[in-house]
Amino acid sequence: MVNGESRPHVVLGVSGGIAAYKACELLRRFTESGHDVTVVPTAAALEFVGAPTWAALSGKPVSTDVWADVHEVPHVRIGQQAELLVVAPATADLLAKAAHGLADDLLTNTLLTARCPILFAPAMHTEMWEHPATQANVATLRSRGAIVLEPAEGRLTGADTGKGRLPDPAEIFALAADLLARRDDTGGAATQDLSGLRVVVSAGGTREYLDPVRFIGNRSSGLQGYALARTAAARGAEVTLVAANVSLPDPAGVKVVRVETTAQLQERVLEACTAADAVVMAAAPADFRPTSTAESKIKKSEDGSSPDIQLTQNPDILAGLAHERPNDHIVVVGFAAETGDEHGSVMDHARAKLARKGCDLLVVNDVGGGAVFGSEDNEAVVLAADGSAVSVPLGSKAALAHVIWDRVLGVRASDTP
Ligand code: CTP
Repeated sequence: MVNGESRPHVVLGVSGGIAAYKACELLRRFTESGHDVTVVPTAAALEFVGAPTWAALSGKPVSTDVWADVHEVPHVRIGQQAELLVVAPATADLLAKAAHGLADDLLTNTLLTARCPILFAPAMHTEMWEHPATQANVATLRSRGAIVLEPAEGRLTGADTGKGRLPDPAEIFALAADLLARRDDTGGAATQDLSGLRVVVSAGGTREYLDPVRFIGNRSSGLQGYALARTAAARGAEVTLVAANVSLPDPAGVKVVRVETTAQLQERVLEACTAADAVVMAAAPADFRPTSTAESKIKKSEDGSSPDIQLTQNPDILAGLAHERPNDHIVVVGFAAETGDEHGSVMDHARAKLARKGCDLLVVNDVGGGAVFGSEDNEAVVLAADGSAVSVPLGSKAALAHVIWDRVLGVRASDTP
C-alpha cells in the first residue's frame, strides 16, 4: 500500500481490444493499492468498456481526445505528470502508432509527452502479433527503452487458441509495481539492463512417481523462481521459466514451460540454455527417484508388508550445466539451503558447495532457524566464485531477485576482456 502523500501517478492507456475488460481489474489493483490513476482509453476502447466504468473505478473524469478541457492542455500534462504509463491491452494499431510517433488522440499524444517508463501489454490474435509489421514496431519500441511484454498463450477471443492473450492482470500489476519501486531506487527511467539477454530460470519442486497416483515430492512453492522471472522480464530480458508443479499464475511476458519430473526439468532447462546468457536454478529437483515406476496403482498387500521401493539418484542439473557449459558465455547460478554444524559454518559449507558444483554464483539460504518454503520473504548471501559475498537482508523475494540479476551482470562484466 502506497501512502496518500506520495501516491504515484500512473497513466493507464487502454486501446480497443476485447481484453479491455481485463484492464478494469488492473485499474482496481492500482487504485486499491493507493496509486493515483488517470485512465486514457482510445475511442475504440470505449466500444468495449464505457467511460463511466473507467471514471467510476479511477475516481477521475475520462477523455479520449485532445479537445476536452483544452485550457488544461491535457495531452501534455497527463504525460508529463506520469511516473509510469501502462498500456493494456495494446492493440497492433496502437503499437504501430506508438512506434511511428503518430499522435491523433489523447493516448498517442500522452505517449509522446511521457518521459517515464512505458509498459505495453499487447493482446491480439496470433497472426497479428506475428506479422512482420507488428514485430518491427515492437522491436522499434523496445529499442527506445519501452517494455513490450510478450503476450500470453491460450484461448483467444473466438474458439481458437495461441499466442496473443493479455497476460494475467495481477501479473501486469506485479510487474508495474516492480517498475515503480525500481524507479524510486534509480531515480528515473526503468532500467532495462537485461535487455538483449536470454535468461533461463527453474522454479518449483519436481515429483518422482511411484505409480500413476503417488510421487516423491518436496515443498518448494516456486515463489523465488517466479520472482526471478518477473524481475528479469521487467529489466528487459527474454525469459524462459521452467516450472515444476507450481500453481502460480504465469509471470507477464515470460515463456513458461511446465514439467513434473527431474528428468523433464533437466531436458527442458538444457534445451533452453543452449543460447542462454544466464541460468538460475531456483528449483528444488528431487535428489532421488524410484528406480521403477509401477504402471498401475500399487495395492496394499494382504499380509501388511510394505512395498520394497528402490531409489536411484537423479542427475545434478546445476553441476552438469556448470561443468559442461552449454555455451562459452553462460552465467550459472545455483541455490543452496545450508545449516551450520560441527564440520563448519553455513558459509564454509556454501563455499565448498560452490566449488563442488562449479557454478559462478551461489545464493545461500541459512535454513538453521526454519525453512523459507512458501514464505513471501527471503534473506540470503549471494556468493561468487571469486570469493566475494553480498548479504541481502530479509525482504521480498523480488528484492533478492534484483540483487541476483545485479550480480549476474557483475559476473558478465568481469568476464568481458
Ligand atoms: N539441483 C540440481 N539438480 C539436482 C538437485 C539440485 O540442479 N538434482 C540444484 C538446485 O536447483 C539448487 C542447487 O542444486 O540450485 C541445490 O543444491 P543441492 O546439492 O541440492 O543442495 P541442497 O539441497 O542444499 O543439498 P545437500 O543436502 O546435498 O547439501
